[in-house]
Amino acid sequence: MAKSGQHGGNVLQMAEKHGLHPDQVIDFSANINPAGMPDKLRQQIIDNLSCLEQYPDIEYTQLHEAIARHHDCSANTVLAGNGATELIFLWAHYVQPKKALLVEPGFAEYRRALLRTECTIADFILREEEGFQITERLLSALTPDLDCLFLCTPNNPTGLIPDQHLLSEIIERCHHLNIRLFIDESFLDFTPEYQSATRYLKQYPNLYILRSLTKFYALPGLRLGYLLSSDEQLLETIREQREPWTINALAALAGETLFDDTQYHQTTYAWLNSEQDYLFTALSRFSSLKCFAPTANYLFFKHLRKNSDLQFQLMQQGILIRSCANYTGLDKRFYRVAIKSREDNQKLVRTLEQVLRHD
Ligand SMILES: Cc1ncc(COP(=O)(O)O)c(C=O)c1O
Repeated sequence: MAKSGQHGGNVLQMAEKHGLHPDQVIDFSANINPAGMPDKLRQQIIDNLSCLEQYPDIEYTQLHEAIARHHDCSANTVLAGNGATELIFLWAHYVQPKKALLVEPGFAEYRRALLRTECTIADFILREEEGFQITERLLSALTPDLDCLFLCTPNNPTGLIPDQHLLSEIIERCHHLNIRLFIDESFLDFTPEYQSATRYLKQYPNLYILRSLTKFYALPGLRLGYLLSSDEQLLETIREQREPWTINALAALAGETLFDDTQYHQTTYAWLNSEQDYLFTALSRFSSLKCFAPTANYLFFKHLRKNSDLQFQLMQQGILIRSCANYTGLDKRFYRVAIKSREDNQKLVRTLEQVLRHD
């Protein structure tokens, strides 16, 4: 099992450590839509609890068709999983890359999945002086000895999206050099103004696009994600050889209906539109914080004071933020916070005012 400190969302452990009841803690460390799961889905789950008394369809035909309809692609190019995480591990297991390039700081599970195979891992470190943006340096780092590159757009934890023209060049270069390109778009639903790389899928069979439904629809406990690729042979092999029934029946049901919930989508965009600005502006006012403009539902910043522990200080006030000290390429001055409701965001700002008073 992954260590509890490796991801955000460890409310129970952190509350216990600080002598608090979990209800006294506001969790800014996990990037989950604060709207909670869509009401329609909640009702649907209640109405369909008895589906748990049967095995789900082993092929998840309706689920795959719903995802394919949403992306206007063929169901053969879709593979659903028990959260995006399962698909990262399945992909690494069935591809068995010999050499991978990881963009760091990035999501920790790519490395964990690759380390289970006999893969050599090279790091492409994003630089603070480049604003942690992917630059043309990445093009030169793409060499023929690589089997795969992992990219995350928007990136976790930096929240940045690469320039779209540069992204198309990266895709083209990977294709030219026969490098499989794994693009994690788990947070892209939060940024409707950015185009998905799914538009390249038909043209590039070396492209694999990962999506998660757990963040946007606030379902991290239900578990649902999917992979899209026109490498139908790989998807077919995984389909044939993976363990059966890893997606529970309620998650499968959710995936069949969530994409049509336009009301939930609109409410989420309206909330994020206002709260992204609010929190970025408010945190940017602190002279000891350097904030990076967010694109999705979380905000990445650096505390310019060297020897303080902002996570500890805020936790003493019942606010849990994500320390980014354990990301490759970062240190304990870096943090990530989820963007939440106005009320919670204001509490974060007020608590920071107290904590940073002497900075
Ligand atoms: C970038 C990224 N990809 C994938 C995942 C995993 O998502 P899921 O909950 O669908 O397994 C996460 C979870 O934090 C993430 O940050």
